[in-house]
Amino acid sequence: MSILYYCDDDDGTLLSALRQRLADTNIIDWQDQRTQLPHSDITSAVVWMPPADFFDGLTRLREIYVFAAGVDQLLAHPGLPANATIIRLRDAGMAQQMAEYCLYGVLHHQRRMMLLRRAQREARWAHEIQADLAAQTRVGILGAGALGSRVAERLALNGYPVTCWSRTGRTPKTPGWRSVHGAETLDAFLASSDILICLLPLTTATTGILDAALFCRLPRGAFLINPGRGGHQVEDELLAALASGQLSGAMLDVFSTEPLPVDHPFWAHPAIIITPHIAARSLVSESVEQIISSMEAIERGDSPQGIVDRQRGY
Ligand code: NAP
Ligand code: GLV
Repeated sequence: MSILYYCDDDDGTLLSALRQRLADTNIIDWQDQRTQLPHSDITSAVVWMPPADFFDGLTRLREIYVFAAGVDQLLAHPGLPANATIIRLRDAGMAQQMAEYCLYGVLHHQRRMMLLRRAQREARWAHEIQADLAAQTRVGILGAGALGSRVAERLALNGYPVTCWSRTGRTPKTPGWRSVHGAETLDAFLASSDILICLLPLTTATTGILDAALFCRLPRGAFLINPGRGGHQVEDELLAALASGQLSGAMLDVFSTEPLPVDHPFWAHPAIIITPHIAARSLVSESVEQIISSMEAIERGDSPQGIVDRQRGY
C-alpha cells in the first residue's frame, strides 16, 4: 500500500513524522512526485486542503485521513471520491488551545477590556467601568463536541455558568456546565447567553447560523466568539448587530474569505478582535498517533473513531 500526502501549510514536520512512524510504508509527497504517481498503488491519503486535481486517477483510494477537525473544505472538494471513508482528527491537542482562546475572549468581554483600552487611549481614569462577576456572565456554546465540551469544562472551572447546545446532547463528565439539545431549546439557550461561542462544524444545517435572527435572540449587548468557521457568520448582519448595539463586540478567528481581505470592514472595527485562524492547531505527534491508530483499527476490521458521516456533514 502507498499513501499519498498533501497538507497545505506543512513545513515538512508532519510528513517526516509520518515517514518516521510508518517506516515500512511508501508515503508519496504529492508535491514532489506529481508527474510519476503510481496511482494503482495508492489506497490511502493524508490531506489538508488538497488541490483541485489531487484525487485525479486515484481509483483504489479507500481511506482519506484529514489533518484537521473540520471537514467542510474536503466535503466541498469537486474531485472527492464518492466511496472513500473520511477520518478526521478528534482533539489532537486542539481542545486545550481552543479552551485558552475562548477563555481569553470571555475574560476580554467580562472584564470590559475593550472599554478600558479605549479609556487608556484617551488617558482617562475610567473608574466607572466595572466588570461583571464571572458567576453573573452566562456563556453559551454552540456545539458540545471534542472542542465545545472542553471549552465548557475550562470556563466552568473559572466560575462561569456554561451551557452547551448541540444536535443530540452530551452528558457532562465534569461539574459546572450543562448540555441542552434540539431546536426547541435554542431560544431559551440564546436568551441566556451573555457570551456566545460558536464551535459547530460548517454543514448545510449550520451555514449562516450566526445571522440577524440569531443575534436578536441574544441578550442586548451580548459578545460573540467565533472560532468555528467563517461560513457560520453572515458578515453584514454581524456589522449591523454591532452598529445597533445588539452585540457589543466580537472575537473572530474565521472568515468567509481567508486571509481576510485588506479592505474588509472588520479590520478597522473598534469592537472586533481579529485573529488569523490560529485558535487551535493540530499537534503533530498527537495527530500522527491518531492517524496510525485509525489505520490499525481498519486493518483489524474495526471502525476507527472520527469517521465522517457525509450526509450529516461532520
Ligand atoms: P465535533 O466533535 O464533531 O463536535 C461538533 C458539535 O457540533 C457536536 O456537539 C454536534 O452535535 C454539534 N452539531 C453539529 N451540527 C449541529 C446542528 N445542526 N445543530 C446543533 N448542533 C450541531 O467537532 P469539534 O472537533 O468539536 O470541532 C468543531 C469545529 O471547530 C470544527 O468543525 C471546525 O470547524 C472548528 N475548528 C476550528 C479551529 C480553529 O483553529 N479556528 C480548530 C479546530 C476546529 P452532536 O454531538 O449531537 O453530534
Ligand atoms: C482547523 O480549523 C480544523 O478544523 O482543524
